[in-house]
Amino acid sequence: MEFAVSHLQTYRGKYWGCSDTHGHERSRLDQLNFLPLLLLCTMCVTGAQGDAAPPERIAVVGAGIGGSAVAHFLQQQFGTQVQIDVYEPGSIGGRLATLTVNNQHYESGSASIHSLNLHMQDFVKLLGLKHRREVAGKTAIFNGERLVLEETDWYLLNLFRLWWHYGISFLRLQMWVEEIMEKFMRIYKYQAHGHAFSSVEELLHSLGGERFINMSHRSVAESLLEVGVTQRFIDEVIAAVIRASYGQPLTVPAFVGVMSLAGAQGNMWAVEGGNKLVCRGLLKLTKASVIHARVTGIALHSTEGKTLYKLRHESDSGHGSDIYDMVIIATPLHQGGSNISFEDFEPPAKEFPGTYHHMVTSVVHGYLNSSYFGFPEPKLFPFTSILATDNPDLFFNSVENICPINVSVGFRRKQPQEAAVWKILSQRPLDRQQLKTLFRSYYSVQVTDWAAYPHYGSAPKEVPPIILHDNLYYLSGIEWAASSMEMSAVAAKNVALLAFNRWFQHQEKIDQKDLMHKLKMEL
Ligand SMILES: Cc1cc2nc3c(=O)[nH]c(=O)nc-3n(C[C@H](O)[C@H](O)[C@H](O)COP(=O)(O)OP(=O)(O)OC[C@H]3O[C@@H](n4cnc5c(N)ncnc54)[C@H](O)[C@@H]3O)c2cc1C
Ligand SMILES: *[C@@H]1O[C@H](CO)[C@@H](O)[C@H](O)[C@H]1NC(C)=O
Ligand SMILES: *[C@@H]1O[C@H](CO)[C@@H](O)[C@H](O)[C@H]1NC(C)=O
Ligand SMILES: *[C@@H]1O[C@H](CO)[C@@H](O)[C@H](O)[C@H]1NC(C)=O
Ligand SMILES: *[C@@H]1O[C@H](CO)[C@@H](O)[C@H](O)[C@H]1NC(C)=O
Repeated sequence: MEFAVSHLQTYRGKYWGCSDTHGHERSRLDQLNFLPLLLLCTMCVTGAQGDAAPPERIAVVGAGIGGSAVAHFLQQQFGTQVQIDVYEPGSIGGRLATLTVNNQHYESGSASIHSLNLHMQDFVKLLGLKHRREVAGKTAIFNGERLVLEETDWYLLNLFRLWWHYGISFLRLQMWVEEIMEKFMRIYKYQAHGHAFSSVEELLHSLGGERFINMSHRSVAESLLEVGVTQRFIDEVIAAVIRASYGQPLTVPAFVGVMSLAGAQGNMWAVEGGNKLVCRGLLKLTKASVIHARVTGIALHSTEGKTLYKLRHESDSGHGSDIYDMVIIATPLHQGGSNISFEDFEPPAKEFPGTYHHMVTSVVHGYLNSSYFGFPEPKLFPFTSILATDNPDLFFNSVENICPINVSVGFRRKQPQEAAVWKILSQRPLDRQQLKTLFRSYYSVQVTDWAAYPHYGSAPKEVPPIILHDNLYYLSGIEWAASSMEMSAVAAKNVALLAFNRWFQHQEKIDQKDLMHKLKMEL
């Protein structure tokens, strides 16, 4: 052991010297990490020793939160001298988008962020943005005939009602969600230490073992029954929550379920001025060039024994192509998702199976028909958000009184009898009759049809790969485990670390087993 330790000292010196050349943060290592350390230093010495230059040009396809975040993280890893081009034919933000009603702006896409979504929290801090002021409101669940659950002003009474209706199910659900969130949060520690995963399965496994992998396959209903949540609670409460967030039934994978249930527990926030400010801010900070063009194809391009990527793109001003050392695809790659073709790849690269679930948001400025929910007197309608149970006769998933993206100190919600701005989530566009049912009258309706999330029943139960080729990466596949702003940010950081670790052959920072234990020993 003496011998080993003295060796370790020698190597440690080299290790630091070596890591310094890449300006890469490392934490203190101790003797227990002896073996990986040895391995690592051999690689440092033979592989990325000084001579390995960082990539010169990186292309990012898509400027949603995934693409914006990966541009930022890539620059953090590779340094400011790397040129990063971000291709986006639409508006920056992708599914983070706003629209205007009556001179005020509202979120039309992705609306809320969990307080434990630490990458989103970091971005907001880094960019000097703020959380939007909170405006209290109450939720109820509607089954097509009556409200089956009503939130009140008084927290204890809410707890009591849940207890009365659903007993221990409610507590079991909370414990389940908390335990999984706690494990999920290990990712931040791993990433802070520079660890990356070569596939979504590896990532999930490192967080919660085989159980987490199973959770990306098995339905939320099945998993909840297993931990002792009752069928009634699942049908009346869980179904409504999942339908309101993912527009899909209880067959969605458990991991997807946890994400929306964590949201339903409260502690949600949004960015003052609009969530898409995060995307804009990150791209500006990175000084990435945003190119307003659609990427149509990616081909291999070999010169001087190096494999590069030729990116074809088109815009109103015509077609073009450019050569890159590395390409990150940050847009869904199922059929029709992004329409990018792959040429000359061996084995052939192609689009992945599955489809995306369409969800329609209708932002209506009008007078809610509270009679429909059993409140003939509009003034007395106390709710700001109504979720729907999984009743096939119901034509909407949720109806919510929304606040503008800027909430000033004196802001108050409209009284229930006043005209207000409501966001309705539905499977299909609402017809006139349906609008007439929900609203006594209205001034305007703005409809957006989103390819919102993976349609979880539509593909084999495998998550698409992250590494498509040597330096060609796919970020959005993580949505098949769960889709949210934070999942895209987690995937962005993972892709940046993976690209960096592979470029400089830091194998020991990829797919490390038993990371939780190893990192504990390091502290
Ligand atoms: C209605 C709705 C509500 C939601 N609510 C929430 C919520 O409350 N909380 C939450 O966390 N998540 C929510 N989500 C999910 C969240 O919006 C997504 O998970 C997240 O925004 C995905 O970001 P992304 O960058 O990975 O993809 P996207 O935002 O889809 O970005 C991909 C970008 O790539 C561009 N692109 C496509 N094809 C090409 C091409 N060929 N070349 C170049 N660019 C291309 C697109 O224009 C797009 O801008 C919601 C989604 C919807 C639709
Ligand atoms: C995961 O699923 C497999 C097969 O369905 C099962 O055999 C295994 O026990 C499960 N593991 C855990 C930890 O739930
Ligand atoms: C809304 O908030 C953003 C971000 O804080 C700010 O830049 C913008 O000026 C605000 N707009 C209005 C109309 O208050
Ligand atoms: C891809 O092409 C199909 C067929 O032309 C089209 O319907 C679809 O909207 C395109 N997808 C995107 C994201 O542009
Ligand atoms: C409102 O809801 C009631 C009850 O469902 C319904 O009879 C009525 O037609 C709806 N529309 C209006 C405009 O009142």
